[in-house]
Amino acid sequence: MAETTAMTAAKIESILQENRLFEPPLELAAKARISGMEAYRALVAEADADADGFWGRLARQELDWFRPFEQVLDWTNPPLARWFVGGRTNLCHNCLDRHLDGPRRNKTAILWEGEPGDVRRISYGELHREVCRFANALKARGISKGDLVALYMPMVPEAAIAMLACARIGACHSIVFGGFSAEALRDRLVDGQAKAVVTADGGFRKDRKVPLKRAVDAALAGGACPSVQSVFVVRRTGEPVTMVPGRDLLWHDAVAAVDDDCPAEAMDSEDRLFILYTSGSTGRPKGVVHTTAGYNLWAHLTFQWIFDIREDDVFWCTADVGWITGHSYIVYGPLSNGATTVMYEGAPRPSNPGAYWELIQKHGITIFYTAPTVIRAFMKSGRAMPDAFDMSSLRLLGTVGEPINPEAWMWYREVIGAGRCPIIDTWWQTETGGVMITPLPGATPTKPGSATLPLPGIAADVVDAEGNSVAVDEGGFLVVRRPWPGMMRTLHGDEQRFRKSYWEHIRPADGSHLYFAGDGARRDRDGYFWVMGRVDDVINVSGHRLGTMEIESALVSHPAVAEAAVVGRPDDLKGESIVAFVTLEAGRDGDDTLLVALRDHVGEEIGPIARPDAIRFSDALPKTRSGKIMRRILRAVAAGQEVSGDTSTLEDRSVLDGLRVPDGA
Ligand code: WT7
Repeated sequence: MAETTAMTAAKIESILQENRLFEPPLELAAKARISGMEAYRALVAEADADADGFWGRLARQELDWFRPFEQVLDWTNPPLARWFVGGRTNLCHNCLDRHLDGPRRNKTAILWEGEPGDVRRISYGELHREVCRFANALKARGISKGDLVALYMPMVPEAAIAMLACARIGACHSIVFGGFSAEALRDRLVDGQAKAVVTADGGFRKDRKVPLKRAVDAALAGGACPSVQSVFVVRRTGEPVTMVPGRDLLWHDAVAAVDDDCPAEAMDSEDRLFILYTSGSTGRPKGVVHTTAGYNLWAHLTFQWIFDIREDDVFWCTADVGWITGHSYIVYGPLSNGATTVMYEGAPRPSNPGAYWELIQKHGITIFYTAPTVIRAFMKSGRAMPDAFDMSSLRLLGTVGEPINPEAWMWYREVIGAGRCPIIDTWWQTETGGVMITPLPGATPTKPGSATLPLPGIAADVVDAEGNSVAVDEGGFLVVRRPWPGMMRTLHGDEQRFRKSYWEHIRPADGSHLYFAGDGARRDRDGYFWVMGRVDDVINVSGHRLGTMEIESALVSHPAVAEAAVVGRPDDLKGESIVAFVTLEAGRDGDDTLLVALRDHVGEEIGPIARPDAIRFSDALPKTRSGKIMRRILRAVAAGQEVSGDTSTLEDRSVLDGLRVPDGA
């Protein structure tokens, strides 16, 4: 399995030898909601004894219901799950309305800081009003329950407001990360049949202005997405925009013309809440579908448990709302719990490399949740910069998105957390809706590099191809044996692919349904999970998930390219970097000009995050006799390793020599 993941054998070896253990700080443990391992085990036992009773109790206790549910789970037709059957609720109501009666009305819901340093504090009361107004603006444009609204936004409060407004009226949102290209946006608009797009003139990113409205115009050009009838435009950067009469309107004007009152629609538990696209092993991105009640409960509960949230916490997750992390832990999880959530438009950048630490000091942030790649980047530039800031407000530190190496984990703990803050390494996916495997800050002793144990009710395991649990410290596939409320319900428009991608790889003899996550993992003798990385053709670049076939399709759509194979290469900073092997059409030269052109081409087809770090031109690609590209070999070549293992199926061994060219970029 080592060969199929980003991790080198040496890394796996060092992780297996990792035996440091850190107990939760006593004071934190004493006050925690889940205080100590006994409390954790009691919840696990409750869930294992009666899963329906467990989830039903929590759903009744933690959410407001317009109509109670009749059944906790319908799993008679797996893998199609129905949770909280017959119930009616509304996510926006649970995030806003239910906090308005007491002191939370004036509590800051969203603490926003723009890249240029402008700050907005929006209370629960104000947020409720703004959400109602935008919800009415959507309705005024004929958008109602069941319609799809796409968001292509910078990190401004209007992004959260639009999400909540959709949830309020029962429109389904589909957020497309603002770093994706016009082409990628168009594909997603067409796939979801979006009726409206919410965007901005532009956004600030690393001292540059990114023109978002222009990309929307390009995506809609030539009648490419006839379903889109309205485009709402937030003014942010002040750049000129072309407004198409009858279609485009300024957010500002749209909300000026409506009133403050908009009742929350009583949504069925299983009504579609949002679609979020993510990458898989085959070409087209997958539209992961989440539904109302189960997702709400999962974002709510996980946020509460994992961050042991207190009334005066200031919580900051550095993700973008364009990813699931932003959905669950910038917007829905924090707001459903009545917490203060920080939203930051910027990123560390040359003009302000200490931006993150400065923000922690400035706003007295107590919980900080970021990606390992961020930590590794700071590690490289030394501790002087973070040491210059007072970060004593911090009490918990989280990570998400990719495996964290023990060195980065220790640095995070010592330098950012001053040895006081538990490190919460959270494993989960777009598909799981919220965190699945994680330490609990007041209970779980942590080990550097391990996501530790599954949350109560989550039946995670590491298995072989037949679904049998593997032995201690043996590699296998990470699976979940039982459904959970936050699980994806299907892939938009492609139930077959949903079944195939997640439920059919591993077929236990007893006919039960296992959710296959696509990751490889091990469990140690304490039952702790060590997630090793993807075992499919998905790579993880700085916590961003990319399908190798998506990038290959982008490359071969360039006229000079005959064939392309893309693999991940271990990278100290990014986790993995993208290496493309390309064969050219006859008569084309693999020179530097073409190299730049190909990288730009991928940037236009998908987005800058998908641009290959290195492109190697070669006369042929290693294939089996049946014509299948042998990625195992390419991965080894990309990593600069000897090609080991069985090459007997390789059709033409001389191809190997042709691949060993010096780094292309
Ligand atoms: C993939 C999911 C979950 C939100 C961000 C990414 C990898 C995620 C961890 C972790 C090791 C991790 C897995 C997973 N991953 N968290 N703590 N340790 N790997 O969501 O884009 O859906 O990607 O990210 O490979 O399958 P995503």
